[in-house]
Amino acid sequence: MKVSVWKGGAEGAFQEFEVPRQPSQTVLDIVTYIQRTLDPTLAYRYACRVGMCGSCAMTVNGAPRWTCRTHVDKVVRGERLQISPLKNLPVIRDLVTDMREFFDKWARAQGQFSGSRRRNDDFHTVKPRSPDRVQVDAAIECIGCGVCYSACDVVAWNPDYLGPAALNRAWTLVKDERDGAKLERLRAVAGDAGCHSCHTHMSCTERCPKQLSPTASIAGLKREVLKSLVRGEL
Ligand code: SF4
Ligand code: SF4
Ligand code: FES
Repeated sequence: MKVSVWKGGAEGAFQEFEVPRQPSQTVLDIVTYIQRTLDPTLAYRYACRVGMCGSCAMTVNGAPRWTCRTHVDKVVRGERLQISPLKNLPVIRDLVTDMREFFDKWARAQGQFSGSRRRNDDFHTVKPRSPDRVQVDAAIECIGCGVCYSACDVVAWNPDYLGPAALNRAWTLVKDERDGAKLERLRAVAGDAGCHSCHTHMSCTERCPKQLSPTASIAGLKREVLKSLVRGEL
């Protein structure tokens, strides 16, 4: 099989390699084969190899994917494969992107839990079937892999946009009854770079390897922002 792999930084170029096909081969197997056998300088990132860490995300034949969970058979076209770094993020080298701005946006969206109880207060029990908890049942499973962020056209047009993952995280905290910073968080996501910039393209939801729906989370944030505006809280 012929595999084109991105080499270099933002101004790099694709380099072609010949890689033998194997049964049950994943795209990460291909990248690992190239690095171990053909080009030891190839930079790439992975950790768990079983779809738990999200660090192996790359662009495969144009779409962002976890390479360890992508079988070659499913994506190969005419015995050819093209592998490049995630879009919408600066390239450090080869297949490795700089995730700093992705996580900086989590901080800008107030993605950190802000406890409302003090050391001597009793534990805050969250009922698993309470309406707020049920609304974020899926969304809390996000592992911050960046696939949705890489798939989002609005991030490409407006690099300031917080993006689907940071907004999904904000949504889980807005619905967390233990959190004491709901209004600050809604304020953080209500601006031009926040939830109202989402055009509901659903690319994030289509591409999320965990089948989460950041689009639904963002729609929830829009509703909560509107309710707070009507109440005169924002
Ligand atoms: S929402 Fe899905 S695609 Fe986006 S960062 Fe979380 S796990 Fe990855
Ligand atoms: S639904 Fe919104 S966040 Fe998701 S890809 Fe589309 S514009 Fe981006
Ligand atoms: S290496 Fe961890 S998800 Fe692929």
